[in-house]
Amino acid sequence: MSGELPSSLVLLGAGKMGQAMLTGWLARGLEPSRITAIDPHLDESGRALLSQKGVRLTKTPEGVSIPEAMVLAIKPQTLESAAEGGRKLIGKDTLVLSILAGKRIADLASRLGVSTAIVRAMPNTPAAVARGISAAVAVPGITQRQHAIADALLSSIGGVEWVDDEALIDPVTAVSGSGPAYVFWLVECLAEAGAKAGLPPELSMRLARATVEGAGELMFRDKSTEASTLRRNVTSPGGTTAAALEVLMAKDGLSPLMERAVAAASRRARELAG
Ligand SMILES: NC(=O)c1ccc[n+]([C@@H]2O[C@H](COP(=O)([O-])OP(=O)(O)OC[C@H]3O[C@@H](n4cnc5c(N)ncnc54)[C@H](OP(=O)(O)O)[C@@H]3O)[C@@H](O)[C@H]2O)c1
Repeated sequence: MSGELPSSLVLLGAGKMGQAMLTGWLARGLEPSRITAIDPHLDESGRALLSQKGVRLTKTPEGVSIPEAMVLAIKPQTLESAAEGGRKLIGKDTLVLSILAGKRIADLASRLGVSTAIVRAMPNTPAAVARGISAAVAVPGITQRQHAIADALLSSIGGVEWVDDEALIDPVTAVSGSGPAYVFWLVECLAEAGAKAGLPPELSMRLARATVEGAGELMFRDKSTEASTLRRNVTSPGGTTAAALEVLMAKDGLSPLMERAVAAASRRARELAG
């Protein structure tokens, strides 16, 4: 992200996602001296991580200069209190990048008192290992540089998909934001089914876990091959995989279940946004 680094950056909220992003930015070459993290009650390990990386940490926005970019990584329910201090740090050219679940651009603008340069993004937890995926939407007034900065900040924790319609962020939340939990549940279910089929439970869990890790890695390394092709590649006609897929792909199999799960998460995202 060399050409698009912000000259200065404030991270408001240095919790799990904040620290994951910070790690990604530093790995991509953002100078720690350009970053100020603001978090009033960061735990010991968080404080140690920041100081070890050479990032300035303060408890309040007092005395912090207006940055070129501010990243909001607080919990959505603390936006109101955080906005009070945060808004003092937003200059007319400051890019505000929010990853707050359920907080719409209009909410952010009214809380922060800004109406231009806002990007709303929805990352996911594999961001912690730079393998996240974020969808992002920008207000129309954003400059090319601000857009490039947001893209660079997000791409340092994984892929970025830009969308034009903010309404898409709810289904995005339901697919990729919450998606890692579905995959972990798949591992749990597969392990349990293996145990019921006679495997020692610990062995079944190790097999299930390694299978999902490996299948994910295959997709990661071979992006040009469709998931459906990868599936067909391991399905011989009349074989064992085909027997299982017949169950999973039945009319009442995984597809309608996933549809209901994603619809439920999408609905909940809309409710939380108010
Ligand atoms: N985790 C995910 O999977 C995920 C995925 C996509 C988006 N997000 C979004 O990312 C955001 C952060 O999530 P997270 O899991 O990283 O939460 P988190 O670990 O709780 O981090 C939030 C941090 O902000 C601090 N904070 C509270 N009030 C503050 C204030 N006024 N000024 C500055 N910092 C303040 C919190 O301190 P206290 O703990 O003491 O309140 C905490 O250290 C959320 O809005 C969430 O919706 C998360």
